[in-house]
Amino acid sequence: MGDYSDTTAEAGAWKQFWTGRARASEHQFRDARTGAFLHGYWQDVLEAALAGRSEVSLIDLATGEGEVIALVDQAAARYPDLRIEAFASDIAVDAVRLAASPRRRFEASPVVADSAVLPLRDASLDLVLSQYGLEYAGPGAFSEAGRIVAPGGRFHALVHCRGGAVETACSAVASLLGQVIESELIPRMKDFVVTIPKAVAGEVSQDDGQACADALRQALETSARAAGAAAPGPARDHVARLIQDCQAAAGRLGGFQTADLLAWLDGQAGELTAFHHRMTSMIRVALSDAQMEDCRARLAQAGLDVSPAATLDLPDGGPPLAWVLDARREAQG
Ligand SMILES: C[S@@+](CC[C@H](N)C(=O)[O-])C[C@H]1O[C@@H](n2cnc3c(N)ncnc32)[C@H](O)[C@@H]1O
Repeated sequence: MGDYSDTTAEAGAWKQFWTGRARASEHQFRDARTGAFLHGYWQDVLEAALAGRSEVSLIDLATGEGEVIALVDQAAARYPDLRIEAFASDIAVDAVRLAASPRRRFEASPVVADSAVLPLRDASLDLVLSQYGLEYAGPGAFSEAGRIVAPGGRFHALVHCRGGAVETACSAVASLLGQVIESELIPRMKDFVVTIPKAVAGEVSQDDGQACADALRQALETSARAAGAAAPGPARDHVARLIQDCQAAAGRLGGFQTADLLAWLDGQAGELTAFHHRMTSMIRVALSDAQMEDCRARLAQAGLDVSPAATLDLPDGGPPLAWVLDARREAQG
C-alpha cells in the first residue's frame, strides 16, 4: 500500500508555513461551523479518554499550532485533580514552539520529529492523538503511533479522507493558486520592476517597456479573474492582496528600491508555491478505503484492538470531514 506522501517537498512547505508564524491564519481553511463541530467532537472524545484517570501521559502528533493540545487543556477542566504530562510533536520546529506554549493545566514538551520516526519508547504514552496530521508522514507513521501506545492506552486520530470535505476545499484552493502561478504574475512583475526604469532612462526601447507592461497587465487580469471566480476564504484573500500590492507597487515604482521590490517578490513567490504545495499535499494524503484498511492493519500489528473504520460527518450531511481511527491497547494484568 505504497507511500502516499511526497514527504520531502511537503515537509519543506510545512516548515516554511510555520516559520516565524504567530498563528496559522491561512490554516483556517475550515469555516467556523466546521471548526466548532470538530472542537465539540474532540471535547467528547477527550473527556471520555481522561475520565477515571489520576494521571495521563499524551502526545499530539503533527500538532501544528497545538489545536488538539488546547482541547485537552479544555477537557481537563472537568478533572481538576488529573495530572497531565503532554508532548506536542511536529516536523516543523516553529509549529512545535507554538503548540508547546503554556496552557492552564500544563505545558506540553516539544518534540520536533517526523511522525514516521518518533524518539519515544515503546508503549510509553496513554493517549496518542492526531488531527489531520499523521498521514503526512506516510503509512509508517501509523505503525509508529501504535508502537508508543501504553497498556490500557488509546490511539485516536482524524485522518484526511479521499473524496472528503477537506479534499474538496483544498482542490478549489489549489486550482486558484495554480492559476496564479501559471499566469506568471510574479515573474512578469519582476520583469516590470527591472525593465520600466530602464525604459524611462532610455536604456531599453519604449517597445520593450510596453511589452513588459502588457505582459504584467495580462497576468494581473488572469489572476484577478481566477480570484473573482473563487470561493471566499484565505486563498482568495491572499491572491487579492498580492494583486493589490503588485498594482500599488507598479503604480509608483519610483517610491521603492528595485532590490527591495525584487526581494519582496521572491518572498511572495515562495509563499505562493508553499501554499500551493500544502494544498496539494492535503489532497495527496486524503486516504482511500483501502489505505485506511492498511492503517488499521498497522495498528493491529502493533498489538492494538482497532475499531472498524468510520467517518466523521457533519449533522446535515455533505462529504465526510475525516476518517476516524480509534484503537486501544489492552491493560496489563
Ligand atoms: C494540516 S496540518 C494539521 C495541524 C494540526 N494537527 C491541526 O489540526 O491544526 C498538518 C501538520 O503536519 C505537519 N507535518 C507534515 N509532515 C509531517 C511529518 N512528516 N511529520 C510530522 N509532522 C508533519 C505539518 O507541519 C502540519 O503542522
